[in-house]
Amino acid sequence: MNTLRIGPVECAWWPYRRGENAQTRVRQWLAEALGIAQSALILRRDPYGRPRLDGKPGGHDVNWSHSGEWLIAAYVVGAAVGIDIEWLRPRPKALALAQRFFVAEETAALAAEVADAQDLEQRFTRLWCAKEAVLKAHGRGLSFGLDKLRFTVVEEDRTPQLLACDSALGLPEDWRIHAWTPVPGYLATVAWTERNLVPRSAAGAGNVLAIDQTSAR
Ligand SMILES: CC(C)(COP(=O)(O)OP(=O)(O)OC[C@H]1O[C@@H](n2cnc3c(N)ncnc32)[C@H](O)[C@@H]1OP(=O)(O)O)[C@@H](O)C(=O)NCCC(=O)NCCS
Repeated sequence: MNTLRIGPVECAWWPYRRGENAQTRVRQWLAEALGIAQSALILRRDPYGRPRLDGKPGGHDVNWSHSGEWLIAAYVVGAAVGIDIEWLRPRPKALALAQRFFVAEETAALAAEVADAQDLEQRFTRLWCAKEAVLKAHGRGLSFGLDKLRFTVVEEDRTPQLLACDSALGLPEDWRIHAWTPVPGYLATVAWTERNLVPRSAAGAGNVLAIDQTSAR
């Protein structure tokens, strides 16, 4: 198993076969990390399909992602976490996708700064991965809108910086984001925030995502 600890977040990744049940693998890892039996691990899905960890006090959170032949997971205490892995492959429609889904300034920077098609695809994937990691931590996923947060457009080996975001995501400085290469040919990005994005009550009304407005600065 490959692992990375970044700040309060534990990440692990494994080879993955398409169609394999990712949750089974993640449950096994989590139970070992928490030192509890798998049967004691309560992992449910909220109405947005986001996995939620119940039965442990202190705001434990988990998220995972799979792409190509790899599965990656992240686990944190006292924060909300989202993770995305992308297999780096040719994306001939990268600019069209950016035009459709990203913030106009990001698309303009992509179009202006890239050296060639490979550079464009690589920078596009960095942006996509960072956006998806934050949106998965938030819990609504991509349906919340890739244009609800704006990042810097960066070169290889750099983590995009969050410049602006919808107030439902908190403030840009509330977020910590880290991008790295877990295995050659793949890009992973993990995002976490200590801002209260997780439901206040695990058994709460309809398990609806709650944004804690009282913590607004
Ligand atoms: C869910 C979503 C993030 C998956 O994106 P993807 O790039 O195809 O997949 P990834 O491999 O990165 O992530 C998949 C994992 O994200 C998790 N996930 C699912 N919904 C999620 C959400 N709303 N927020 C955060 N994580 C979510 C699950 O653990 C899933 O793993 P599984 O396939 O083993 O169940 C994306 O499809 C999305 O945002 N959809 C909008 C939300 C939605 O419509 N949910 C369905 C309503 S029931």
